[in-house]
Amino acid sequence: MDLDYCYIQHPINESIVKSIKEYVECYNVNIYNETTKKGVLRNIITGVGFNTGDVMVILVTKTKELPFENKLVEILRKNVLGLKSVVHNVNNKVTNIIFGEKTKVIFGSEKIEEQIGDLKFNISAQSFFQINTIQTKVLYEKVLEFADLKGLENVFDLYCGTGSISLFLARKAKKVYGVEIVEKAVHDAKENATLNQIANAEFYVGEAGKTVENLYRKGITADVVIVDPPRRGCDQKLLDIIVNMNPEKIVYVSCNPATLARDLAYLNEKSYKAIEVQPVDLFPHTSHVETLIKLRRKNR
Ligand SMILES: C[S@@+](CC[C@H](N)C(=O)[O-])C[C@H]1O[C@@H](n2cnc3c(N)ncnc32)[C@H](O)[C@@H]1O
Repeated sequence: MDLDYCYIQHPINESIVKSIKEYVECYNVNIYNETTKKGVLRNIITGVGFNTGDVMVILVTKTKELPFENKLVEILRKNVLGLKSVVHNVNNKVTNIIFGEKTKVIFGSEKIEEQIGDLKFNISAQSFFQINTIQTKVLYEKVLEFADLKGLENVFDLYCGTGSISLFLARKAKKVYGVEIVEKAVHDAKENATLNQIANAEFYVGEAGKTVENLYRKGITADVVIVDPPRRGCDQKLLDIIVNMNPEKIVYVSCNPATLARDLAYLNEKSYKAIEVQPVDLFPHTSHVETLIKLRRKNR
């Protein structure tokens, strides 16, 4: 859709969209067609550090080459304030997954920086990061309140992305173990721990269920478990392992009320009762909502 302005996006996107339209028109770049599976440019993803002003622009193409990439960089540099990074990703598969496997930085640095509270985060192109930094701080403070840490607890932060919740909790916990499936994000998480001088957080790459099972086998368990899954919610296998581990508390962070309700019903059957709920408006002016639930182990 040919929009000049989108009210729910960061205003900097306006100059990015305008620049990419100019590039597409000047250099006749074909847009990928989902029906015919033909064309070049598939997706544009932007990242803006609300608190740092850093901007990253990512273009995903079907083709190995991004035509006239130097010209694109020139146009973006001319128009986009705070541009720190331009990244080209190749995805030639027939899929609704946005990113392909090959990523190349074509201008600037590999990462942008964002700050939440007094914590700094370096974020790579393919790492998940919450899209609304202002409300993310509200969300994370509430996670900390629901976790109610006394400094003696082992905490598992599952689906941890770049380790942002882990690092938020680490200063109040004995140790935090973060688990995340995207390797680059775990790399960022480790780097972010060092950047913030946090030494009691460890991060593991892997599927949440399998990785927690391996940790549990090694005798590592959690007093408090945080889960922040994608929209499809948690795998039942993971919920079973968490229940076996018998943590006192679970804090569930969800962006999809439907899968949240499904998982809470299952956990309720398995002795974990939801005792507090807090919605957070992470996506203002949309029908979406982030929801935070505190669950406590029932007396068996
Ligand atoms: C909603 S994000 C939460 C990230 C992080 N907690 C935050 O606040 O930025 C969900 C994360 O789960 C990761 N993920 C998806 N499926 C996974 C799985 N099966 N095992 C582990 N991580 C997974 C995604 O890559 C993404 O980083």
